[in-house]
Amino acid sequence: MTTSTGFDVRRIGGRIGAEILGVDLSGDLAPALVTEIDSALLEHKALVFRNQQLDDAGQLRFASLFGELTTAHPTVPSVDGRPNILPVDGDEGIRANQWHTDVTFVRTPPKASTLRSIVVPPYGGNTLIANSAAAYRDLPEPLRELADKLWAVHTNDYDYAAPKNEKAAEHRRRFVSRKYRTAHPVVRVHPETGERGLFIGGFAQSIVGLGTSDSRDLLRIFQSYVTRPENIARVVWTPGDLVLFDNRITQHYAPDDYGDLPRLLHRVTVAGDVPAGVDGTLSHVVEGDDASHYTPAAA
Ligand code: SIN
Repeated sequence: MTTSTGFDVRRIGGRIGAEILGVDLSGDLAPALVTEIDSALLEHKALVFRNQQLDDAGQLRFASLFGELTTAHPTVPSVDGRPNILPVDGDEGIRANQWHTDVTFVRTPPKASTLRSIVVPPYGGNTLIANSAAAYRDLPEPLRELADKLWAVHTNDYDYAAPKNEKAAEHRRRFVSRKYRTAHPVVRVHPETGERGLFIGGFAQSIVGLGTSDSRDLLRIFQSYVTRPENIARVVWTPGDLVLFDNRITQHYAPDDYGDLPRLLHRVTVAGDVPAGVDGTLSHVVEGDDASHYTPAAA
């Protein structure tokens, strides 16, 4: 499909993901073009821009077109001199090999994330992105009705597997250096499209009102719908690519299948709003601060 501002949208998967062809993100992007990219993002949820070769400044400029930026992370240090850029460096033990939505342990998780590939391994090191609205629609009706009523507590301090080496252990120590726990609806209503999506992922550790065992079983059942192959797109990186995804209605996973090979991405995230459930009730902090050093204050 060619849009009115002249770029092509080529779908990657049946249910999520599209490549955008014919846009140079390093140039000045006209407002009409940005509006069309935004519409494509709402429709496809994850957009891949190949071979852009942006630098840090270019990535920051592009991400800023979609809203105010967060700082790099609530607990993990940024790239030196770039407070809004998170280095995703496999060599530093930063390997996102669990399904998650970015930073859901705070009350206002990012609206959107950009990932830019700088060094990619010759094989492996892909990123998988899942459509959590399709997962919600796939649920049998009794499970959907149950999910609509549930809330989950998300935390950065969950039961990680033992770190594989000292760098991974150090990353883990930094990651949990401040503790956050936030209650979010299990079903989030997308603030722009009204779509309902399963808002869970790896930081969701318990269901409000249930014990550990029932929480785990229910979260596992809901999560199994998110990670169905038909709900997933796989991004095979080449250096210089940029991916933009809607963090309100997706989850992602970076398989740790590249051993000691180098892999470096830079991540910049756009600040989000407070999630709302199907009855309009908003997420709330259970433990920790309001993360105002990370994301602009929310109402
Ligand atoms: C992330 O979770 O933002 C990083 C994803 C990746 O390493 O591909």
